Amino acid sequence: MRVLGIETSCDDTGIAVYDSADGFLSHLRFSQALHLEYGGVVPELASRDHIRKTLPLVRKVLGPDHAGSRPGKIDGVAYTAGPGLAGALLVGAAIGRSLAHAWKIPAIGVHHMEGHLLSPMLEAERPEFPFLALLTSGGHTLLAHVEAIGEYRILGESVDDAAGEAFDKSAKLLGLGYPGGPAIEQAAKNGEPGKLRFPRPMTDRPGLDFSFSGLKTACALAVAATPLTASRVADIAAEFQQAVVDTLVIKAERALAQTGLERLVVAGGVSANRLLRDRLGRLGLKHGVRCYFPRPELCTDNGAMIAYAGCMRLLAGQRDGPAFEARPRWSLTDLPQVGG
Ligand code: KG4
Ligand code: ZN
Repeated sequence: MRVLGIETSCDDTGIAVYDSADGFLSHLRFSQALHLEYGGVVPELASRDHIRKTLPLVRKVLGPDHAGSRPGKIDGVAYTAGPGLAGALLVGAAIGRSLAHAWKIPAIGVHHMEGHLLSPMLEAERPEFPFLALLTSGGHTLLAHVEAIGEYRILGESVDDAAGEAFDKSAKLLGLGYPGGPAIEQAAKNGEPGKLRFPRPMTDRPGLDFSFSGLKTACALAVAATPLTASRVADIAAEFQQAVVDTLVIKAERALAQTGLERLVVAGGVSANRLLRDRLGRLGLKHGVRCYFPRPELCTDNGAMIAYAGCMRLLAGQRDGPAFEARPRWSLTDLPQVGG
């Protein structure tokens, strides 16, 4: 089965083709730069840009330089139905469902975080079930026990800002621009963690929830304390990154001990972070746990993960009913099981 994937939940238009026999064929992404001058994503502008970019990217991804070089017809359309920005989701849903209607093939609305969670399946080495998933994106940070597709038990999640959101807000305070994760990672290369000391939030008490808004406050206080020279920015960035990574690693280690799971999947935008990947890789070696990450370009929002998750659900016979739905808020635990 060959599936076209459409991701428009935030500020990236991601379009891809996944084929259950041939694997991941192609993906294209347009990252909206128009939000830069506002210092954050402006929902209405995001929706309008998705309208402009989605169909041209669909044409291109199906063309001779991409999936079209491996001929085969599209058997289904998967689009991100939530969670995300309502207007942005509606653009992907409207286009995805219209294409499916015109091509007389099924459509399916995919949960964005399920897309991230399954994104390591696009790689040659795929994790087997069950596994522990650490998902860290701009909107969510969570640990889940994954028994199968659609069988997710949330073990802990962010009670305020997600890790990516804290990166973005702190980068703004440091004058490093948006998105903040890659900017802080870059700035941290010239800095020294430990010159200032930030908290490792909620690690001194039991439980697997996360709270990153205090780190953003620590960053604001550090920014206000002394003149912001380039080396001071680098030291703050380095300590901030270290604090986020330490916190994620401590909680992942705790969740592995609690569940006894032997595989760890790490996905979502923050999982592109080199320090996090290295530290979790070392954690895996220490405990005999195999770690699975998507390649860095598939950590951030993309159409390939949506095409894959949609393909698995379509193969299991699931498809959209007649009701048109985009779900800005949608829990991972509300998804139907596959094959259950
Ligand atoms: O998964 P994603 O593309 O979108 C959401 O679903 O939210 O994640 C975006 C988040 C942003 O907050 C961005 O700053 C962060 O991922 N991010 C990173 C890195 N690359 C992206 N954070 C830390 N280090 C990175 N290299
Ligand atoms: Zn995402």
